[in-house]
Amino acid sequence: SVIHVLLTGGVGSRLWPLSRHSRPKQYLNIFSENTAGAGAEKHGQSRNLFELAIERNAALSDRLMVVGNQGNRQLSEDSLYKLKLTDYTDVVEAAPRNTAAAIAFAAFASAKEDVLLVTPADHIIKDGPGYSGAIKEAIKLAHRDVLVTFGVAPNRPESGYGYIEHKGQDVISFREKPSVETARDFLRQGNFLWNSGMFCFKAGVFLEELKELSPVLFEKAKLAWQQNKEGKLPLEASMEIPSVSVDYAVMEKSDKIKVIKAEFEWSDMGSFEAVYDYLKEQGHPVDVNGNMVLGSDRHTAFVGLGNCILVSTKDAQLVLSKAESQKVKDVYVELEKNS
Ligand code: GDD
Ligand code: MG
Repeated sequence: SVIHVLLTGGVGSRLWPLSRHSRPKQYLNIFSENTAGAGAEKHGQSRNLFELAIERNAALSDRLMVVGNQGNRQLSEDSLYKLKLTDYTDVVEAAPRNTAAAIAFAAFASAKEDVLLVTPADHIIKDGPGYSGAIKEAIKLAHRDVLVTFGVAPNRPESGYGYIEHKGQDVISFREKPSVETARDFLRQGNFLWNSGMFCFKAGVFLEELKELSPVLFEKAKLAWQQNKEGKLPLEASMEIPSVSVDYAVMEKSDKIKVIKAEFEWSDMGSFEAVYDYLKEQGHPVDVNGNMVLGSDRHTAFVGLGNCILVSTKDAQLVLSKAESQKVKDVYVELEKNS
């Protein structure tokens, strides 16, 4: 059967202070204002990104598997309750060990022949025939024992994404998070797509590749999984697993990758630059110099500044230059160290 594996372990550190350890971005309601219409919030129909990801894939899969961690379990359960979903598989990590391990757990929890449709919980995707068509095609391809990725046409030299060099559905190389200069080169060459962060493959095929390409990670993840109690992982064995993303651990090294070009609107709300672009398109106000305010209705003036973002929350504020969005993570890391 086809299992929708929903990865919901990240903290969204590049969206601090909107996104917090206590409420990562996939559970925030700020992106849902335009997805359910006015008044939806009041009537409990508004959807956060986590809920939207579940709804988008429900008709395309036979079962849902939520892979998250202790810290956000309650938030996930609240959403699942709201969607009246009780029949799903729960994998609870003791601590986030990155996506290679998270996907390995999902694969261990499945039958070898199960097709896993792995998606993040924090993207905005325009639902519709473009999306379902791509997924259906991916599921078909996955039956040929390959690892399917979804490629998005790039429009800027973003350094926070993976890049897929391709010819049709064949993948020539996969390059995770290149420098801006390298990314610029990729855009000039013209045969590169952004990796959307969604994947589709048989559980058994993924585990074989992981075992061959990142044997230590595979063995440590297996050891931890062997000690799981009803999908709950043990802390000590988990901390032994190298914290590496699936992009580095498998995709960059595998020669079994295929790519399907995403003919649907996709946005990773990974940084304030992406949030800015999205909200601007949705009609969120921007001043003549391209400055934007998030999270506050107070009248704000920017003098001598252009393409800046002010992010205001109850107990924290951030002012940043849009182009430096990736660096917000440093603030978060610094704060975590001191807390
Ligand atoms: N369960 C679990 N456990 N989920 C995790 C963990 C973990 O330890 N770490 C991250 N995730 C989830 C995040 O919540 C997110 O939904 C997804 O996995 C991807 O992790 P990110 O940390 O957001 O990755 P990224 O944005 O830096 O890069 C990935 O996505 C890009 C597109 O958005 C890569 O796949 C890139 O190649 C890709 O371009
Ligand atoms: Mg991301």
